[in-house]
Amino acid sequence: MRGWASLHEMRGNILIVENAESGAQEAAERFACAAVKAVARHGRFAVAVPGGSSPKGMFELLASRSFDGLIPWSATHIFFTDERIVPPDHEDSNYKLANDLLFSRVPIPEVNIHRFRTELSPDDAAADYERTLHEGLGDDMSLDLVILGMGADAHTASLFPGSQALNEQTKAAAANYVKKLDTYRLTLTIPILNSAGEIIILIFGADKAEALLVALKDESDINQHPVQAIHTTHGRLLWLVDKEAASRLCNS
Ligand code: 6PG
Repeated sequence: MRGWASLHEMRGNILIVENAESGAQEAAERFACAAVKAVARHGRFAVAVPGGSSPKGMFELLASRSFDGLIPWSATHIFFTDERIVPPDHEDSNYKLANDLLFSRVPIPEVNIHRFRTELSPDDAAADYERTLHEGLGDDMSLDLVILGMGADAHTASLFPGSQALNEQTKAAAANYVKKLDTYRLTLTIPILNSAGEIIILIFGADKAEALLVALKDESDINQHPVQAIHTTHGRLLWLVDKEAASRLCNS
């Protein structure tokens, strides 16, 4: 079993917060800080956000009065870490989630929101997003910030255990068949995720405790535990976890 010191070397920094609410506050503050720094450094802030429940509190805070005027929305470009194969107004759409909780409540130009075009076939939507990333980020396709969640099976974005996109080392976006869901998902791939300047993985709730323990402590097996593939090649990685999700770490 690795000690904590080697853990930090291996996996990045871990911040344990009281609960999902304090986690949302921490994530929103770090989002704002990354935005201001990126715009000051190179005139724009490019961030990829996930779906699911983990980012909801952060979205709501970023749209709240307490963050009024703190985010340079006109220079902020939003991308998605992944998307379901549903229309953008479907209740399962990651775009719809972020639009309802955030985009519709802040002065971000619509042209700065880069959704997967799920009206295309999965392969065409992935190829189209690759072009969108190139156009938006330039050839190095480096995002300033990536926000991720993690499933109880240690998937992240839509990189699920045993799925083909885990092996994608050249494309930035892929259509990924997920056997357990019997459906395709659209996802950013490991190379583009890991080339981000900063990555924050949001992990809240007791149902994530086992997956987090395995992800942090066990030998890397990204096919079984895809989140283990996440490590910045030149930036910073933060595991932002609440006490419930960290409960197995503290007792291990
Ligand atoms: C999605 C997300 C996905 C999510 C995890 C965790 O499209 O659902 O991008 O990767 O981050 O499944 O989901 P929760 O945040 O709901 O626990």
